[in-house]
Amino acid sequence: MTAFDDTAAAELARKDRAHALHPWGEVCPSADNGFMVEGDGAYIRDLEGHRLLDGVGGLWCVNIGYGRREMAEAIAAQVMRLPFYSAFIDTASIPATELSARLAEATPGDLSRVFLTTGGSTANDSAIRFLHFLFNRTGRAGKKHIITRADAYHGSTYLTASVSGKFSDLSDLDVLSDQVHHLPSVNPYRRPAGMSLPEFCDEKVADLERKILELGPETVAGFIAEPVLASGGVIVPPEGYHRRTLEVCRKYDVKYISDEVVTGFGRLGHLFASESVFDLVPDIITCAKGLTSGYVPLGAMILSETLCREASCGESAAFSNGFTYSGHPVACAAALTNIAILEREDLCGHVRRLAPYFMEHLGSLRDLPLVGDVRGMGFLAGVEFVADKTTARSLAPEVGIGKRIGAACRRRGVMVRPLGAAIGISPPLTIGREQIDILVSALRSSILEAADELTREGVRLAS
Ligand SMILES: Cc1ncc(COP(=O)(O)O)c(C=O)c1O
Repeated sequence: MTAFDDTAAAELARKDRAHALHPWGEVCPSADNGFMVEGDGAYIRDLEGHRLLDGVGGLWCVNIGYGRREMAEAIAAQVMRLPFYSAFIDTASIPATELSARLAEATPGDLSRVFLTTGGSTANDSAIRFLHFLFNRTGRAGKKHIITRADAYHGSTYLTASVSGKFSDLSDLDVLSDQVHHLPSVNPYRRPAGMSLPEFCDEKVADLERKILELGPETVAGFIAEPVLASGGVIVPPEGYHRRTLEVCRKYDVKYISDEVVTGFGRLGHLFASESVFDLVPDIITCAKGLTSGYVPLGAMILSETLCREASCGESAAFSNGFTYSGHPVACAAALTNIAILEREDLCGHVRRLAPYFMEHLGSLRDLPLVGDVRGMGFLAGVEFVADKTTARSLAPEVGIGKRIGAACRRRGVMVRPLGAAIGISPPLTIGREQIDILVSALRSSILEAADELTREGVRLAS
């Protein structure tokens, strides 16, 4: 690594504070950001030289881990062969074509037509636009409404921010509201006292059906859903929910978009989780992140052949939507190599084998103060913190519990992602038992430290 003495590091921080506007960042920042400068395997290193276990996986995405020379070589080779050429003018790139075919092979049912994008937001944006295109073309232009859920995150374009359900993100921003409808949270931990999980599932499925009937099925285009709601707090809907919500959608010809931006590419132990984990064959799957393990940006919307035939009505029909860098050849070459690595090293199998250990170890944190819920699947987990473990009373947002735990873990050499009153954990899929132990141990001491700190500050806690 290039050495940065204190003066050079301070100058870097000054430039960042003066000139960068970070995602979700302050427009006039008051505090300095830290810099991450290197990665190797499941570890990253910051500018000060601290080596940190990356329990975040970049941002739910560095599935194959850092420092893969094979990725660098595939990317460099494609840059030298042909970095870019437009896919708009009746030409295709070889990596984009090979990747489309590979994705079609990996997806369930007849999901076989791949529209490559630049990331997850553009994939979801395109999916919603495709539904409008479909219904406009087939004489059902009234079908416009999109149903989504509280706690969902689908992206940061105008349209995908509108269908996201993390309401605190939307406070100072405008979004579409006329055509977007949020169902209540599907978080089993927050179900009414005394309600069983099967009853909760019935209730959540009924929420969807009620909303479709309230709006009128002839006005509803689609339902968009992450199989596990990641940024909303790693929420796993109750068992049977996915399949049953699909049946409701089928009943009213409401199309189902399964947002696998986080759950795809091994995170839940399969290339795609919709069918393999949740018995769900949707009309559209969207993905990004783990598609290239974050080495370069790329996303995809994968449509069923049935949907495409329906939209074409047997005649030539152009879907006038796309981006200059849709299916960028360099990104597609990276994705092909990433998938080859996932398969060669059987990282999906590794996740399936080790996930019980991962979840069980995290589950041991339930005994600690503040820990209300520990949940997740595969290598995707969340811990929700509360003031009162018996009643699930929340901590005041000003306590900043997720951030406190995140900072305490970092001091112990482990990164986790603060998500409001929860933290998210999604390490590279290459981690082993030893790293799981390190992660859980750092969390354990950080939670105890935070509980002590809050008690000293006079915050009322009950266990
Ligand atoms: C489930 C889900 N969908 C979509 C997105 C948006 O993807 P991107 O940030 O690549 O646009 C994200 C990003 O975190 C996500 O978690």
